Amino acid sequence: DERTQELRDAQQQLLRAERLAAIGQLGASIGHELRNPLGIIKNSTYYLNMKLGQASEKVKKHLGIIEKEITRSNKIITDLMDFARVRRPALRKTDVNLLVREAVSRSKVPGNVEVITHLKKGLSPLMADPGQIEQVFINMISNAAQAMTSSNSAETRDGGRLEISTRAEDGFIVTEFKDDGCGISEENLGKLFEPLFTTKTRGIGLGLAISTAIVEAHEGRIEVESELGKGTTFTVKLTASANRA
Ligand SMILES: Nc1ncnc2c1ncn2[C@@H]1O[C@H](COP(=O)(O)OP(=O)(O)OP(=O)(O)O)[C@@H](O)[C@H]1O
Ligand SMILES: [Mg+2]
Repeated sequence: DERTQELRDAQQQLLRAERLAAIGQLGASIGHELRNPLGIIKNSTYYLNMKLGQASEKVKKHLGIIEKEITRSNKIITDLMDFARVRRPALRKTDVNLLVREAVSRSKVPGNVEVITHLKKGLSPLMADPGQIEQVFINMISNAAQAMTSSNSAETRDGGRLEISTRAEDGFIVTEFKDDGCGISEENLGKLFEPLFTTKTRGIGLGLAISTAIVEAHEGRIEVESELGKGTTFTVKLTASANRA
């Protein structure tokens, strides 16, 4: 019955919170240890680059690869540390449309992905931590971009269109991310928000888990609808400042 379901939900939420905390702690301590060696490697590549005035193209190419992978490793570490620091959001009145624009401009979206925004004018401001919500938006944009390019699945996709819109609905300020990418199978829909769930060869599976933790700390929620092969819509619902005590 309803009561049993409520208890089950509550228990699941607890389990998830525990799992998140454990991953966060382990991740943070490993990340911390890896930062120093990575920093040293980075300095060394910098030095080599300087000294390799007329090195062969091939050597330069490989130095470039090392640098790219260092950047990627640093991003993983930052993600893990962010995850551990379940920072309490510093709430202030925030313009959701501004956050969308910032997130779009900060996202490195490939050229074959078209981003279109429909930003509703006159929305009341969010009561939110702008940095955290921007991070959520950036995660959504990068997932969508990956779903529309080849990195997400076995099949190759050559781009698509991401539509981002904002609106007010039932006391919430809603931001919607609608892509026409690869879509998500019924089976995977239930696992998306679990930490470390990923279908990508180069993913860690933290984007949505971090986003959920952030949005829940804001007393909001994230919803998803998807059709395999057609596309996916993520909806981020946050409270407007007017509706908050
Ligand atoms: N817009 C989307 N379209 C299709 N699948 C998606 C979309 N967003 C998320 N997913 C699926 O959800 C999984 C989990 O996403 P999440 O952002 O948590 O991790 P990731 O993108 O795989 O890795 P990370 O974000 O840590 O680099 C993805 O691997 C992908 O299978
Ligand atoms: Mg992601």
